[in-house]
Amino acid sequence: MGVSPLGMGLSVDVYSPDLFELVNKLRERGFRPDYLEVFKATTTALTTVRQAIPDIPLAYHGEGLWITQPDVQMSPFFQQDVGEMVTQLNSLQSLWLNHECAMKQMAGYSFGTYVPPLYTPLSAEVVADNIAMVQQAMDRQGRRADGTAPLFLLEMPPLTYFSAGTIPIPHFFRLVTALAPCGLVLDIGHLWTVYRYTAACRRTSLERFVGEFLNEFPLERVVEIHIAGLACHESNGQLEGDGELPEWIDAHAAPIPSILFSMLEQVLAHPNLVSLRAVALEVDTKPIEMIVEEYAEAVQRFSILVQQTMTRGAASAEQPVKLTSRPISARKPVCEFDRQRLRDDYARYAQIISGQVPIAGPEWKETAAEATGLEQYRTSYVPYEILHWGGDLAEMFPQTCRALAGQGICLTEFVPFWFRSPRPLTQSYDFFLLKIERFLEFVTECAPGALICVQQECDMLRLAYAQANEVGNPVMEMERTR
Ligand SMILES: [Fe+2]
Repeated sequence: MGVSPLGMGLSVDVYSPDLFELVNKLRERGFRPDYLEVFKATTTALTTVRQAIPDIPLAYHGEGLWITQPDVQMSPFFQQDVGEMVTQLNSLQSLWLNHECAMKQMAGYSFGTYVPPLYTPLSAEVVADNIAMVQQAMDRQGRRADGTAPLFLLEMPPLTYFSAGTIPIPHFFRLVTALAPCGLVLDIGHLWTVYRYTAACRRTSLERFVGEFLNEFPLERVVEIHIAGLACHESNGQLEGDGELPEWIDAHAAPIPSILFSMLEQVLAHPNLVSLRAVALEVDTKPIEMIVEEYAEAVQRFSILVQQTMTRGAASAEQPVKLTSRPISARKPVCEFDRQRLRDDYARYAQIISGQVPIAGPEWKETAAEATGLEQYRTSYVPYEILHWGGDLAEMFPQTCRALAGQGICLTEFVPFWFRSPRPLTQSYDFFLLKIERFLEFVTECAPGALICVQQECDMLRLAYAQANEVGNPVMEMERTR
């Protein structure tokens, strides 16, 4: 296994904030991160980063391979997306591909931010199957100079107010790792959201929950730990300090709450953590000054502990991250009947969380018992995402929006339109381009008189977006934020 110990680093975006400015600021303060994990960008941008920062090891945070989905290998864009991912891994000379165990598209429905998988045994089997397929592609085309291939690391995703499934989350990851030769990323903030948005927060203390979780989770496969900010979402009416436990969700621009550092201590102390290679503060979209402060504090408090944990793993009798799963070819692939069943489950999942159908089905039993989180997601979070996130409609289409208002058409009608029926994919996932495409269809249907106006605005947006992506303009790249 070719992942050597790295230490404490940062998980970053090329543009947001500007990576070179960040690295310079860190150097001015006497810091050189042990590694940088870089989020997906254009291949040109990643190649530039590799050349400009030759002295820091780089790793890759992928996006857009929806490995939770039973039909992803059938998608006309999947091979292309995997190919691009391998190219980007190679351009960074990354030791791993980190990818969330989450998706933004399922069964023909699209979302702007990550949605967690269905936590069921069948879903775990499908995830393992898809990971094995991606790992094979990396084995074939992703060899490093030392002859090893990059390793697939699966990250446990955050919960945004709800979770759905029939088995506990740690159990799900144990099933996946039993079937697939992958490592894992444990994100401390994501773990906090699991406590907050499952029944655990009413049953027990955070510390006991973390202890129980770590005993169940396949901690021996955790290669990297993430720690990032949490905050209340703009669409959430809750004020900070309101109530007992804040309704925080994953928020990389926000400060890292001190409770997460206490959780990190607890995780690092666990004896099963024998494969750890790296710990990163995930800081994309965060102000540079705050990143430097947080990194300085984290290094001071944790670097020795992280080194000790990595050494403990290397010295343990159990060779860290040994790929002990059954050989890929010996496994029975998931049958078509089961794939279809899971496809149906995901279609219902998308309709439930977008508020199109009532909550029903075995994987929703526990969620239904405490429906307030899901209600919050359906009625506030999803409409905000469609109307404002990753491109505010009123700013994207100022003239068309004025025309719609003149005809008494409310923009909120776009939300049910968006989720009205599943749609075949027409390109690799891109939420900004998808918004343009769907808004054009919406206006064509509900205000045909504004057709010329909306077409002109669509053309302008597409052109500006294509140009911005070519030159790597940070403002437009922001639209592609995670
Ligand atoms: Fe993360």
